[in-house]
Amino acid sequence: MAADGILFSPIRIGTLDLPGRLFKTATAETRATIDGFVSQDVIDFYVPIAQGGTPLIITGNIYISRQAKSAPHQLGVDDDDKIPGLAQMVDAVHAHGSKMFAQLNHCGRQVVPGFVGAVDVVSASGVKDLLTGTVPREMSVTEIHRIVEQFAAAAGRCQRAGFDGVQMHSANGYLLSQFLTPYTNRRQDEYGGSLERRTRFGCEVYRAIRAEVGADFPVIIKMNGADRLPLRDGLQTSELVKVAQIMQTEGGRGGDLGRAL
Ligand SMILES: Cc1cc2nc3c(=O)[nH]c(=O)nc-3n(C[C@H](O)[C@H](O)[C@H](O)COP(=O)(O)O)c2cc1C
Repeated sequence: MAADGILFSPIRIGTLDLPGRLFKTATAETRATIDGFVSQDVIDFYVPIAQGGTPLIITGNIYISRQAKSAPHQLGVDDDDKIPGLAQMVDAVHAHGSKMFAQLNHCGRQVVPGFVGAVDVVSASGVKDLLTGTVPREMSVTEIHRIVEQFAAAAGRCQRAGFDGVQMHSANGYLLSQFLTPYTNRRQDEYGGSLERRTRFGCEVYRAIRAEVGADFPVIIKMNGADRLPLRDGLQTSELVKVAQIMQTEGGRGGDLGRAL
């Protein structure tokens, strides 16, 4: 295929200029060490993608706290000691001209506790995951605030590691998505009920990240366009568009990518 057309034309995300629009989407590498540190195996996964000329690589979902972890050998950014390894990975990608965003995630109820040694599984509400049988505990507002801060701290670590931006993972049934959808969010407080209230958690995460990383660091969000998972109802596209518009307003003008939406 000839390298022309809109996919191969430049785009700006906030302050970041990219030469093309074909990005490497997030796919969990599950190649980290058992404690979530970058391994040579992770670097070897990304270098050929960068060598291939991919303008932007988004990492697989990275856990922001130990509680947020959903898979063995998943990358973590839960502590400062993860920064040097992440920096080594980003440097290896930058050496071939690609940019790299870190995808930040909390799994919420979407985890098999025995799989990762989870002892305290939380979600918006205590709704059993019918696929895995996992029954989460409903979070208190204090816990919600703590997780918001953990997202922000994780974003700050990614910035210090040299990433070019971060992506909030608000798709595929993980915690941010669990707050969005009424099936998993049965809360009666300010985090549940109307679509605006179910979006509050995501907005707070965004604001905390923005406060941590400053005005110029790209922060993007992954959302489903249609949200149906096995054995659980999700949001319709029309509702997800409204959520996207709320998040876009949160993010200000949003650069070319915001306008393209
Ligand atoms: C092996 C594998 C791992 C994945 N890991 C992630 C992930 O960590 N984060 C994420 O947002 N999506 C993940 N995905 C989903 C993909 O990023 C992508 O959204 C999916 O393949 C569907 O493509 P679409 O979004 O273009 O419809 C994964 C997909 C696969 C096949």
